[in-house]
Amino acid sequence: MPTGLEIIKVKMAVQTATTRRAFARMPTRPSAITPSIGQVLSEVIGGWARLADRIDVPLSRLGANVWRGSTAAPISIGSVNRQSMMEHRAMLKGKTAIVTGSSSGIGLGIAGHFARAGANVVMNGIEQPADVADEVTRIDGCGEGEVVYSPANMMKPEEIRELAAMAADRFGGVDILVNNAGIQFVAPIEDFPEEKWDAIIAINLTSSYHAIKAVLPGMKAKGWGRVINIASAHGLVASPFKSAYVAAKHGVLGITKTVALETAEQGITVNAICPGYVWTPLVERQIPDTMKARGMTEDEVKQEVLLKAQPTKQFVTIDQLASLAMFLCSDDAASITGAALPVDGGWIAQ
Ligand SMILES: NC(=O)c1ccc[n+]([C@@H]2O[C@H](COP(=O)([O-])OP(=O)(O)OC[C@H]3O[C@@H](n4cnc5c(N)ncnc54)[C@H](O)[C@@H]3O)[C@@H](O)[C@H]2O)c1
Repeated sequence: MPTGLEIIKVKMAVQTATTRRAFARMPTRPSAITPSIGQVLSEVIGGWARLADRIDVPLSRLGANVWRGSTAAPISIGSVNRQSMMEHRAMLKGKTAIVTGSSSGIGLGIAGHFARAGANVVMNGIEQPADVADEVTRIDGCGEGEVVYSPANMMKPEEIRELAAMAADRFGGVDILVNNAGIQFVAPIEDFPEEKWDAIIAINLTSSYHAIKAVLPGMKAKGWGRVINIASAHGLVASPFKSAYVAAKHGVLGITKTVALETAEQGITVNAICPGYVWTPLVERQIPDTMKARGMTEDEVKQEVLLKAQPTKQFVTIDQLASLAMFLCSDDAASITGAALPVDGGWIAQ
């Protein structure tokens, strides 16, 4: 077994127990409401506050919920009642997700959302386990599933196959695959180094082929699966100096549509998310060179180079993308397949 496939797993039982206690403190049936209404409301709101604190959602966005005296029906105060929140938290319970390139940026955000929803999550990145132990520990503390990390190199088909096999052995199958790992390089085509072209095509496109091929038989056997490919607005339109990236992302949309058609009758959906600019290390790394090349300040680079094509003039957020990934995993999204879904502040509408 190559060292590249050593796995770390750090279970945060204490944090999980804290979450369970927060739920346990909330009244779950009418008989729990014996003290004064003031005490009850205080306990309920307190429970929500502690829960909101644990899952990084402001209380104002959760609403609060109490059980009506003599009935079992929940009364919702605010937009999200306790029942739907519990369902959301449990939405991916028992499911297993692989998120490639999840040691940072968009993939890390998606891994966190999946873990909060109760999934087992196999995180991945090019970094060695010791270098991402803090992030893995943090994600593992988010939910009731297990979180493991594998530094399988997305340039190496054998390691991708071993990653999928490890996930299936450990968790009894892979239900969700997010092909997210990606790199960027910017140069005119005549100067574009061959090794950069090969690396971008291998990581940003070909790794999806190997990963899909490895997990699909298991999804077919279960009659349920979700493949989410993180493409780009550059899967739909081009920009100069990004030939390999644009070619790879257009290719990602091709494999998305093709596999969607091949699996359409088997409970499996295959979709691509096409983000515009998202503030992540991948984008941040482009700033200093661009500042130097164009004689601009950091803010000028952000506004006049990066966000120029994005009508909202706002970066897309990682949470917005992770929420869409969550929705694509829901039963409500069962009829969305073969789609390229832009989340780009209006970029490709122009
Ligand atoms: N940030 C943006 O503006 C933006 C926009 C559109 C699409 N995307 C796409 O989103 C995805 C994630 O990008 P990000 O911005 O979060 O980047 P990032 O640099 O924050 O994260 C990239 C991830 O890929 C992993 N990775 C790189 N090479 C790898 C390899 N050989 N094997 C395994 N893992 C490897 C890294 O370890 C990291 O986890 C990429 O596919 C990117 O093309 C990003």
